[in-house]
Amino acid sequence: MTEEPLKALEITDVRVTFDGFTAVDGVSLRVGPGDLRFLIGPNGAGKTTLVDAVTGLVPATGSVRFGGHELLGRPVHRVARLGIGRTFQTATVFENLTVLQNLDIAVGAGRRPLTLLRRRRGIPEEVERALETIGLADHRERPAGTLAHGQKQWLEIGMLLVQNVQLLLLDEPVAGMSHEEREATGQLLRRVGEDRTVVVIEHDMDFMRTFASSVTVLHAGRVLSEGTVAEVRADPRVQEVYLGEPVTEAEVEA
Ligand SMILES: Nc1ncnc2c1ncn2[C@@H]1O[C@H](COP(=O)(O)OP(=O)(O)OP(=O)(O)O)[C@@H](O)[C@H]1O
Ligand SMILES: [Mg+2]
Repeated sequence: MTEEPLKALEITDVRVTFDGFTAVDGVSLRVGPGDLRFLIGPNGAGKTTLVDAVTGLVPATGSVRFGGHELLGRPVHRVARLGIGRTFQTATVFENLTVLQNLDIAVGAGRRPLTLLRRRRGIPEEVERALETIGLADHRERPAGTLAHGQKQWLEIGMLLVQNVQLLLLDEPVAGMSHEEREATGQLLRRVGEDRTVVVIEHDMDFMRTFASSVTVLHAGRVLSEGTVAEVRADPRVQEVYLGEPVTEAEVEA
């Protein structure tokens, strides 16, 4: 799909401070190309703030590189132009427009003005492809507002795909979803992750266990633990932070 080689995300000693409060406190992590990395941690751990820093929404110190480009210090739209897209904890689609119109607008957002001016016939190939990937091909004419909660999240992911995003950062994409929707979303992330780098912020341990290829645990603005799902779950420091959820032997081995 994307002809460019897969790129790694390299975060080095990133710090974000709000009025003297350090929300992200020297985080370093590397997400390899093609990885499906889960970023977990208790409320207030700094997960969303770290993604905000990567995407240029909050000022940060340290270094964030993607495909060799330094991202810190770039305004939001210039980070986006490097092929980096994110979703928010609540889906932001245009409710009154159809699925197709939403995707069309997203294509436009990723285009240069000259290309936009050129008239095109039919549905652009990238839109057709995204409709298939997100499983909404049969719902293209529906107003986005009438979609189920899960479908809206998929549409939002589709809006990033048509912009040929190579790094996706998703903030709690399965929050509020039914079990079936979670399963479908996990499969979608796997497909999307085949030729892109994906970072998923998530609270749901079952979801993580099924779909993560690697995990970073944040706690109080720092990296507490990192590794495979099994490694992270076997880490006593992680168990301590997640005391509410005891880890069984079977789960550690799973
Ligand atoms: N704009 C802001 N101004 C001041 N403090 C903030 C701001 N944004 C976040 N914080 C604080 O920074 C810390 C990290 O917040 P963040 O939203 O990144 O956590 P999180 O890991 O995403 O948590 P959750 O799981 O609840 O979404 C919290 O203590 C939060 O109150
Ligand atoms: Mg958050």
